[in-house]
Amino acid sequence: MTKILYVTASARQNGSLSRMLGDRFVTGWMRHDDLGEVVHRNVGMDPPAIISGDWIAAAFTPKATRTDSQQKLLELSDRLITEVRRADLIVIATPMYNYGMPGALKAWVDQVVRVNETFTFDLARGDYPLEPVLSGKTLVLLTSSGEFGFGHGEAREEMGHLIPHLKTVSKYLGAKWIHSVSIEYQEFGDARHDQSIATAKEQVDELLRSLASDKARVSA
Ligand SMILES: Cc1cc2nc3c(=O)[nH]c(=O)nc-3n(C[C@H](O)[C@H](O)[C@H](O)COP(=O)(O)O)c2cc1C
Repeated sequence: MTKILYVTASARQNGSLSRMLGDRFVTGWMRHDDLGEVVHRNVGMDPPAIISGDWIAAAFTPKATRTDSQQKLLELSDRLITEVRRADLIVIATPMYNYGMPGALKAWVDQVVRVNETFTFDLARGDYPLEPVLSGKTLVLLTSSGEFGFGHGEAREEMGHLIPHLKTVSKYLGAKWIHSVSIEYQEFGDARHDQSIATAKEQVDELLRSLASDKARVSA
């Protein structure tokens, strides 16, 4: 009975490779968990608002003293945070855009990483005053890029900010276990790309098998 939050970030209506991996993972999961629930948040097609100065002021105003308009300004953030809070398993399927995450996904991150909701801030903690509120979730990152070699020790490691950035913010999503599978070479469209797709599909299937055999990791 896993609650899945499935976030997709490709701006492409059709042919998205990251969404293909995400759909494969989520439908594969549901085949073995017919009581599970999936909330699909398609930020690629329906991007959340970018946070504003008024939004920040509202977020830092104590709940009890927020004006009606401040509460309204935070409504979307409240909804998105509720989706994160309820999830046991968060699946983020995203392209690499300009060596990092798409703006729509960053807008979603900015809406959900919020003081006193997903992290607390206390200078009494010294140089690391932020602490996550949520915990114990599994995060699956499914990505696609046009170029290749962004992994650890590979040629473009220094340029690959997508997975490292998502891993850094993942603690505020409550992620305890993180898994990632990537398709590369999309812009080359050659045999390496075909091989990368085939390998990624196998890795998703293998991940499904290993998570299914250890459901305690993802079930509430
Ligand atoms: C606006 C834009 C920016 C991109 N920037 C990069 C990039 O910095 N590095 C890269 O390897 N591929 C880049 N690509 C290629 C995409 O990552 C690739 O096409 C990927 O498959 C897109 O994901 P999707 O198939 O899920 O839509 C970019 C594509 C677009 C449309």
